[in-house]
Amino acid sequence: MSDILRRGRLSSTPDEDILNFTSSMSADKWIFEADVLVDLAHTVMLKEQGIIREQDCSKILQGLLKIKEEGIESLDYSYEDIHISLESRLIDMVGEDVGGRMHSGRSRNDEVATCIRIRLRDEMLSLMEELTGLRNVLIDRASGNVDTLMPGFTHLQHAQPTTFAHHLLAHADALSRDSGRVKDAFSRINKSPLGAAAFASTGFNLNRERTCSLLGFESLMENSMDAVSSRDFLIETASVLANIMINLSKMAEEIVIWSSTEFSFIELDDMYASTSSIMPQKKNPDTAELMRGKSGVATGSLMSLLTICKGLPLSYNRDLQEATPNIWRSVETTRSAVRIMKGMIETMKVNGDAMYRQSTTGFTTATELADTMVRLADIPFRTAHQIVGVLARGDGNPSLEDIDAVASDVIGEKLSSRGLTADMITEALDPVLNIKKRSIPGGPSPDEISGAIEKRKAELEAEMSGISDLNRSIETSLEELFSVVDKSINY
Ligand code: ARG
Repeated sequence: MSDILRRGRLSSTPDEDILNFTSSMSADKWIFEADVLVDLAHTVMLKEQGIIREQDCSKILQGLLKIKEEGIESLDYSYEDIHISLESRLIDMVGEDVGGRMHSGRSRNDEVATCIRIRLRDEMLSLMEELTGLRNVLIDRASGNVDTLMPGFTHLQHAQPTTFAHHLLAHADALSRDSGRVKDAFSRINKSPLGAAAFASTGFNLNRERTCSLLGFESLMENSMDAVSSRDFLIETASVLANIMINLSKMAEEIVIWSSTEFSFIELDDMYASTSSIMPQKKNPDTAELMRGKSGVATGSLMSLLTICKGLPLSYNRDLQEATPNIWRSVETTRSAVRIMKGMIETMKVNGDAMYRQSTTGFTTATELADTMVRLADIPFRTAHQIVGVLARGDGNPSLEDIDAVASDVIGEKLSSRGLTADMITEALDPVLNIKKRSIPGGPSPDEISGAIEKRKAELEAEMSGISDLNRSIETSLEELFSVVDKSINY
């Protein structure tokens, strides 16, 4: 048997069916490049620690760079994972007496955990950038719609007038918390398990701090058992991703509703629409529907991860291999959903007239009318609520006479005799003035919203520079790794 892993202890090979069942090769495409980095850093460190000879180190590094260049396609897929396939390819290239020394003081257990963390941190950094992109677009479109009136909803029933800007900023704020959660998760992802070996560390004098820093990690996953066995960082990330997708699914649902003829609040760009194979007139918001649907992928991945990790004894168990693809599925779906949502929001046409027309239907100014009675006729809110509730059985546009008639029934007194005038009622029923009055923090008044927009723009700038810092710090470490690699090769 030529299989470098099985030839010792095992005497038969898995057939194709068994191999398909046990192999992680297809999902390992996600970590091929990370695996090369891990091999390079480990090899350099082995040489620095005097564990392998300089000339062997040089040959291994050259082999690894060649493998990196050839890409994953050149690897043998009949191995059970990328790590062993890559090592086998290296041994083919440089011989076992050299290549067979690379795995000293290491296990695939610390190797795979390190690879997953390297790839995932990159994905998270890209996601952070994409999220700021989407938030930026929401804030941008909010700035253009500070005065665009629309009905706000509770229970999907017309509730009170608000503005489209207020509505868009609500989504932007939810996504800002998502960004914060991605960053938090990143801080627990970016830790190095390398050097933990199988789980009990190793008797070789490894320099864990060195590989940690060459690979751009923030610090060590210290306890070697914890380092190889914990996948809480995957569960945490999947949960963060699921939350993002839930938020996006809510936006997607609104896009679907708003695109309907009944609402006609927005029209998606044709790019994001599909048509019917039988009904030639149809323009369907398929992209938004799919986004709603794809949120199921993220929730499903989280559930899978939780279930796979539950009840596993320390330390490494092969079940963990089954956990990993879930995070790739989820991160891929979520990242593309964030990008697509950005495009949909950026390009959609807003029908301000339809929104305005709907902003007062359904007596959306009823609350302000009741509040006006409280403020200007000095009656308790609960009483005003009853009076306006009775008036709401009518056409939603009550006159002072209508109000006086109902008030006489309810409290035995006209509100006009308590100071309420027709002008006050006109003002209360005006949706624009409704909005203007809602000027306490977080309200939809144009002044308040303009301030909120400025504040969020500044926050986004600060976040974007924080993301560049994180990217730069990883890049600097990897540049250092490649420069050490270069210096360790005797051409
Ligand atoms: N493919 C494996 C995984 O994803 C790598 C680690 C294998 N370790 C082992 N002891 N069989 O988890």
